[in-house]
Amino acid sequence: MHAMKRDEGREALSQLQRKLGAQAVLLGADVPARNGNDWSASLPQTPLAVVRPVDAAGVSDAVLACRKAGLCYVPQGGLTGLCRGASPEAGWVAISLERMVGIEEIDPASATMTVRAGTSLETIQKAADERGMFFPLDLGSRGSCAIGGNLSTNAGGNRVIRYGMTRELVLGLEVVLPDGTIMTSLNKLIKNNAGYDLKHLFIGSEGTLGIITRVVLKLFPKPRSTMAALCAVPDYAAVLALLNEARSGLGPLLSAFEVMWPDYWDVITTRAGVRSPVGTGHGLYVLVEAQGTDEATDAPRFEAWLADLLERGMLSDAAVSQSVAQTQGFWAVRDICSEFGQVLGPHIPYDIGLAVAGMDEFVRRCKAALASGIPGCDSVYYGHIGDGNLHLVSWVPGLSVDQQPKEEMDQIVYGLVREMGGSVSAEHGIGTLKKKWLGHARSEAEIALMRTLKAALDPDRLLNPGKVI
Ligand code: FAD
Ligand code: LAC
Ligand code: ZN
Repeated sequence: MHAMKRDEGREALSQLQRKLGAQAVLLGADVPARNGNDWSASLPQTPLAVVRPVDAAGVSDAVLACRKAGLCYVPQGGLTGLCRGASPEAGWVAISLERMVGIEEIDPASATMTVRAGTSLETIQKAADERGMFFPLDLGSRGSCAIGGNLSTNAGGNRVIRYGMTRELVLGLEVVLPDGTIMTSLNKLIKNNAGYDLKHLFIGSEGTLGIITRVVLKLFPKPRSTMAALCAVPDYAAVLALLNEARSGLGPLLSAFEVMWPDYWDVITTRAGVRSPVGTGHGLYVLVEAQGTDEATDAPRFEAWLADLLERGMLSDAAVSQSVAQTQGFWAVRDICSEFGQVLGPHIPYDIGLAVAGMDEFVRRCKAALASGIPGCDSVYYGHIGDGNLHLVSWVPGLSVDQQPKEEMDQIVYGLVREMGGSVSAEHGIGTLKKKWLGHARSEAEIALMRTLKAALDPDRLLNPGKVI
């Protein structure tokens, strides 16, 4: 950075510190290392400052200070993002929402909750539960991610098949724009067609158009029953048949449909210490979950549905949960992938969208292409298949994360994604990690309109520049 600009930056930040207080503006040696990156990166950058406002006015002051000094700034939630969207570069200012926490209101009649954007997802889930209601968004990072980050990434997770992505769970929001304006749009109405629905600009735009400070969330009736089964099936045709049966037989109760390929199963049972709830050696494994509101009839109905499938020879094996602990055990089989860092060592994760029917073809072709194209490369496959979202991780054993042939892997994986008409990100976003591949999933016209919107809202390109587009 230029010496004069650096001095201007320091002066603007010192002024901001005098206005917001020493707790709100951390400078120099007080900048915490954790704000240097999101969880996906190994090498942190040190931002010039970490600003931690307590309200939207403080966020606006921070944005105006950055504008005045020409400093770039990046919004940060829980930093659990997996594509470096929240990572600063040297000389940037990190604006962290970590002190903007708490639930402002639960409105039972509207079935809404108004929260501050730094509140963790788990806090929100618990607060809804304590009021006899339910907030359905659920991700492995629930204890650490913040709702502002969930909106900004339009997070998916485990219950999309029933409740949709984060976008579907939001009614209103408040956002600080790059010119410092606080746009308060805390709409609680389900039906509101008065002009553009502006919240959708900010949901899923990964902190490139504004900083979300408060959110109005939709709440749902609390499920009174949760049923789960781990099913083994011979092949992918049987997965599709099971999905069809689950949609029609369980109807609106179906709340998750997660599929794991045998390579995943081998890794978790032989290397991660997971005890398989069903026999091993099957073609594919499916976790089916249903949630209902009638404790007396839901479980028998679910068991009868499963027994019928077994009788008709649609499943090779199945285990049905008889307790909350068992259901959690089934989910542990799926959530253990968050420990792949320890289990597999350094690896490259992918998060792709594909038509449900084409998943298995993709898996077979991708696994073979990675193995033949990159010496020693292995890969495993799993995901929210009911939503058309496949996860895979690939790695060459013995190499550090920086030594992994990521570029070659990306070319193979995203080349196939393009060929099969999929998306390079189903839920984690683009950040900087997938920016190069955005054109594999979006047309030139789509990307041009994204750039027009960015230029209209942030003409100086100070807000999280270089992310997404
Ligand atoms: P951060 O990492 O802090 O930020 C993410 C992006 O949002 C950045 O671009 C940042 O600049 C921007 N941002 C953050 N806060 C704001 C704000 N207030 N206003 C504007 N922009 C903001 N994701 C899924 O979708 N589904 C999953 O199933 C899933 N499982 C995961 C499991 C594990 C173990 C881990 C580590 C991650 C998982 N993720 C998953 C990814 C991640 O948790 C989500 O993307 C989450 O929504 C990020 O929230 P965060 O608060 O940590 O955001
Ligand atoms: C999951 C994360 C990786 O579904 O999105 O486990
Ligand atoms: Zn996922």
